[in-house]
Amino acid sequence: MAEVVIVESADAAGDIAASLIEKLVTRRADAVLGVATGSTPLSTYRALAAKRLDLRRVRAFALDEYVGLEPGHPESYHAVIDREMTVPLGLDPSLVRVPGDGLTRRADAAALDRAGEEYERAIAAAGGIDLQILGIGATGHIGFNEPGSSLASRTRVKTLMRQTRLDNARFFASIDDVPRHCITQGLGTILEARQLVLLAFGEHKAEAVAAALEGPVSASAPGSVVQLHPRVTAIVDEAAASRLRFAAYYRDAWENALR
Ligand code: PGA
Repeated sequence: MAEVVIVESADAAGDIAASLIEKLVTRRADAVLGVATGSTPLSTYRALAAKRLDLRRVRAFALDEYVGLEPGHPESYHAVIDREMTVPLGLDPSLVRVPGDGLTRRADAAALDRAGEEYERAIAAAGGIDLQILGIGATGHIGFNEPGSSLASRTRVKTLMRQTRLDNARFFASIDDVPRHCITQGLGTILEARQLVLLAFGEHKAEAVAAALEGPVSASAPGSVVQLHPRVTAIVDEAAASRLRFAAYYRDAWENALR
């Protein structure tokens, strides 16, 4: 099962996640990272930037991207990844990929399908993802795999839930400006990463975290697919952990871990 670490704050979680990444890139300078957007991974990127590692050879694949924004839109995940991760961490932008890169706002379904297949090929050509950073949405999504996503799904177009569009409306002028569609790594794609690091903060994530870590494995709770992965570290704050049945056990296991 996942190693569950309950911490006081997002900053404490970022320190732990950044240490896991440091361990990886120290062993392998050209490691392949799976990277996430949203508020959740920011403390990890900050903690990693503070370590001042040489990450110029690290390759990165983003989890997802909106469909239908103008290329270069400041809230496109291409732009967000560049601003929040590539630049502060000193990655080589030519080694950072986002699904659907290069598509225009009017890309049709066939072009999007091809982009999904091409993204899968690019991940495979890089040798697969060594460590995937994951947030989890209030709807239970990881990547943008909303409830009902096949546990075996690959990179493809999905329709966003209204709740997700509401949650992300804070980055746009209004919910009407939040795209309805996205292109996202599938749950099957995510499962192939060699290590998963799932982060979640806040009471509004508590239900999704409990369903992901302790509920039945089900397409209705897409995050629960992580239970099928042999190497998962879930780092959550007290509020996000508040619905976990086995919280006392997780704390005990972390405090007494054999290191
Ligand atoms: P958040 O989003 O980090 O902005 O809360 C997480 C997610 O939707 O995966």
